[in-house]
Amino acid sequence: METTINNLQVYTNGDKNNPPIIFVHGFPYDNTMWDKQVEILKENYYCVTYDLRGLGNSYIGDGQYTMEAFVWDLFSIIDELELLKPTLVGLSMGGYIAFRAIEKDQAKFGSLVLCDTRTESDNNEGKLKRSNAINQINVDGVEAFVNNFVPGCFHPKTINQNSEMYESVLANCKKQNAVGVKGALIAMLSRGDTTKSLKNIKIPTLVLCGRKDTLTPPEVMEAIAKKIKKSKFVVIPKAGHMTPLENPEFFNKNILKFLGKNISSKS
Ligand code: MLT
Repeated sequence: METTINNLQVYTNGDKNNPPIIFVHGFPYDNTMWDKQVEILKENYYCVTYDLRGLGNSYIGDGQYTMEAFVWDLFSIIDELELLKPTLVGLSMGGYIAFRAIEKDQAKFGSLVLCDTRTESDNNEGKLKRSNAINQINVDGVEAFVNNFVPGCFHPKTINQNSEMYESVLANCKKQNAVGVKGALIAMLSRGDTTKSLKNIKIPTLVLCGRKDTLTPPEVMEAIAKKIKKSKFVVIPKAGHMTPLENPEFFNKNILKFLGKNISSKS
């Protein structure tokens, strides 16, 4: 089912009486990033995906976004759909949102799945890269930026061996709106550091990272897992930064195992 909440395009799949999972996608992608997970998990869980403000089919507005606004958006969906202690799944930028959401109100969530993400805010080099990306979009358009950025998110073998999936994701990203993409870049550039809060995370947490992820490498994710009390760290083989798309079978197997252990499904 598709619905609009707080100007955001929200998609629900599965039985509302089952335990809820809310998925937050990465940049510059959209809700379809989670299709392979929803396909499987909807059997026993109530799956909620959505397009972040400025991306996919959600509201674009003036592009003046902050990480805090992305968290308010997430909370607005949870409240409107009356999701009771959902599992929160976030990848990369979705992970930045998840870390801040947990820091603000951990009691809202039942468990956490962190994929290919980091807690540190951008350093000077990172900020310059974001600024150059905004400049590239202003001068050459979104397509040029996407052609530059997206290949680095995937393991080169995925691009070769699963070119159909890769080309379709790339084509989707090229359709993103320039104002929305620039807004997301500024929100990431200006986000805070959530490293210190990791020790306060008490809910069961699964930390997943692609073996060949060069943006948020396994050692970065393992260090995160070590700081979270009830966490499990799993490396996803044959995958770069886009684990749910690059190795969905392995990704799903691990998320199902984690949910089975920590969240009881009613069906
Ligand atoms: C993402 O996948 O969300 C991006 O790589 C995040 C970022 O650019 O920091």
